[in-house]
Amino acid sequence: EMSMVTGVQTCALPICQTTLPREAGWLARGANRRMSKMVRALTGIQPSGPPHIGNLKGMVEPAVELQESTEPFYFIASYHAMTTLKDPELFRQYQLEAAATFLAFGLDPKRAALFRQQDIPEVCELSWILGTHINLGILERAHAFKSAKDKGKEINLGTFSYPVLMAADILLYDTNLVPVGKDQKQHVEMAKDFAAGFNHRYGEEIFVIPEPVIRPEVATVPGVDGQKMSKSYGNTLGVFTPPKQLRKRVMKVVTDSKEMADPKDPDSCNVFALYGLFATKDEQAELADRYRAGGMGYGHAKQALFEVLDRALAEPRERYLELMDKPEQIEDVLEEGAAKARSVALQTMERVRSATGLGARR
Ligand code: TYM
Repeated sequence: EMSMVTGVQTCALPICQTTLPREAGWLARGANRRMSKMVRALTGIQPSGPPHIGNLKGMVEPAVELQESTEPFYFIASYHAMTTLKDPELFRQYQLEAAATFLAFGLDPKRAALFRQQDIPEVCELSWILGTHINLGILERAHAFKSAKDKGKEINLGTFSYPVLMAADILLYDTNLVPVGKDQKQHVEMAKDFAAGFNHRYGEEIFVIPEPVIRPEVATVPGVDGQKMSKSYGNTLGVFTPPKQLRKRVMKVVTDSKEMADPKDPDSCNVFALYGLFATKDEQAELADRYRAGGMGYGHAKQALFEVLDRALAEPRERYLELMDKPEQIEDVLEEGAAKARSVALQTMERVRSATGLGARR
């Protein structure tokens, strides 16, 4: 009894090595949820810079919509961001911004668990355990690693094992659906493979096999330079950039060099692609006509883009600024989210530990 309470394992009987009595309660609740067949959606965002409209359209909006039909577990992927960000003050700021973004766009903390990755340390344990089952060759084929290598960027161990930690994120919480942009598809596919391999070895009941959910129309939002919008390319339009600066950024979106009088092709234009993400169908048809007719300069199209952006972002921006003014409220949401997430995580780890022999047989 004593040794169980203090966590010192001196007893040789398996029963003493398993769990604290508290965890038995968690286990029972977990069994109930697994039977209730509630679909769980999980996704994360790296707090490695201010959120941009690629994040918004590719993930935040679809994820918030999923709260109507699923149990959302959304988190701030701080450990992932550490692979590139080493400034503690900025890091804290970006974590807050990421959390405020979900809330500003309507995530309901009563329905969802919104939490920080680092508040559930079990994710590191699971990442390690998964890692001992994963071949280097698979990680060498990961897009993110390959492109970092091609660009001669610094590659630390975290960058290399990034997909393993991401798989741990997904598998730790019995995730069914993973709403993401297209750039994360490979990572989710890897998580599926790792889960299937693990289940094959240790038992089909251990991990839920996840599915990526990718909206085709926003799968890859272009940045101001026409490449995929990405914090690491410096080509973003920030979701909460003040209007004046945002307008300046919009004016930087690259176009071809057609003259004002020339007819233009909306379908190959970045400005038009971005416009389409925020404008109504009628507005899109109207601007497309003006492209094709000629006599309209790109400056006009950019102004139209700025206006639909500002229309869509004004309200969330207000909510965001209010939230950022009360970081203690965000903190409360994150702590509550962590408590919900942790109880699920502990049940998963119980299964994993038992199955692998780290824990006692069940
Ligand atoms: P991150 O932080 O790069 O991006 C967050 C989400 O935004 C999507 N996204 C885009 N979608 C469309 N067009 C774009 N230009 C664009 N840029 C970004 C991303 O696809 C992503 O859905 N590895 C993840 C974070 C993560 C995670 C997870 C996600 C860690 N663990 C577990 C899901 C499940 C990432 O770096 O996202």
